Amino acid sequence: MPKNFWKQLERPILSLAPMAGITDSAFRRICRENGCDVAYSEMASVSALFFKPARTLELVKFDSMERPYVVQLFGNDPAHFAKATQIVTSQVNPDGIDINFGCPAKKVFGHGSGCALMPQPELAREIIAAVCDNTDLPVSIKIRAGIRVTTAIHFIESIKDLPFAAVMVHGRTYEGGFSSAPDFAIAEEIKKIIPDKIVLANGGIHTPEDAKNILEQYPLIDGLGIARGAWGKPYLFAQIKEIMTTGKYTEYDFTRIRKIAIRHAELLWKNKATIGIFEIRKHLAWYFKGFPKASELRQKLVQTGSVEEIKNILK
Ligand SMILES: Cc1cc2nc3c(=O)[nH]c(=O)nc-3n(C[C@H](O)[C@H](O)[C@H](O)COP(=O)(O)O)c2cc1C
Repeated sequence: MPKNFWKQLERPILSLAPMAGITDSAFRRICRENGCDVAYSEMASVSALFFKPARTLELVKFDSMERPYVVQLFGNDPAHFAKATQIVTSQVNPDGIDINFGCPAKKVFGHGSGCALMPQPELAREIIAAVCDNTDLPVSIKIRAGIRVTTAIHFIESIKDLPFAAVMVHGRTYEGGFSSAPDFAIAEEIKKIIPDKIVLANGGIHTPEDAKNILEQYPLIDGLGIARGAWGKPYLFAQIKEIMTTGKYTEYDFTRIRKIAIRHAELLWKNKATIGIFEIRKHLAWYFKGFPKASELRQKLVQTGSVEEIKNILK
């Protein structure tokens, strides 16, 4: 039986939170190379895996350099979760499987998946059990601070006996969307309820200082989930590690960022060819945001068609 990798990681665990359209293999690898301890896939539909798995298997494939790597599943049918878990375990072989209980997006929530499952503890229990029963990998869940009258505490109380290994708590409620002030105290409260499981706090972490403040204020939390804070700043993970050990951190100058951006472009080209070059454009805009002449540079970068062109512009 594979080890529960979550328990092997040094605390604080710095994770790249799942992001559809962003956390592909190249971005996960770039983050892992810059201090991230564990990276999540983009969310993958269990129904797609159940009926027609080829495209979704392509979405969640990974390079062994990304390990530990967690595949996130979404859906609302326990039978689909069971089958999808078997397929992912045997054909993808990641280090963990995560279940999405936090997504508010219409196309997920509107079909009764993601955050729509938090007020349905019986169905949520069936789903978690279906995943745990069909893999020997550690299972994690990602939840929100709450939805309507159901708080994350209610939800955790209703599932705490199940054998999942970790939980990432997005400190915003469903109603709070993506911009309200996150509540990190709720992650600390959850850790008190499930002290043997790993608890990660997520939401609004954009600087090394943000991370330090949360980790110091809520010492029971095992680690953090970083999402938009890593856009154009995959080195935020390394900076957080530095500030947590030395009290200060290195600023990344243009030369250092250029090196990371070119490596990212090369990985995307290798993985996705011309689609990858199209996709790198948004990352390049994020990498060089805030630099003098950034908008001029961005304008050139968003029109590039090859890694060579990107390198030339960045000279
Ligand atoms: C573009 C985008 C895509 C996302 N996709 C997912 C997803 O696939 N699964 C998931 O659980 N959360 C997803 N999230 C939510 C993030 O994982 C995270 O919980 C949220 O952005 C809050 O963290 P932040 O404030 O650090 O960005 C997504 C967020 C964004 C912005």
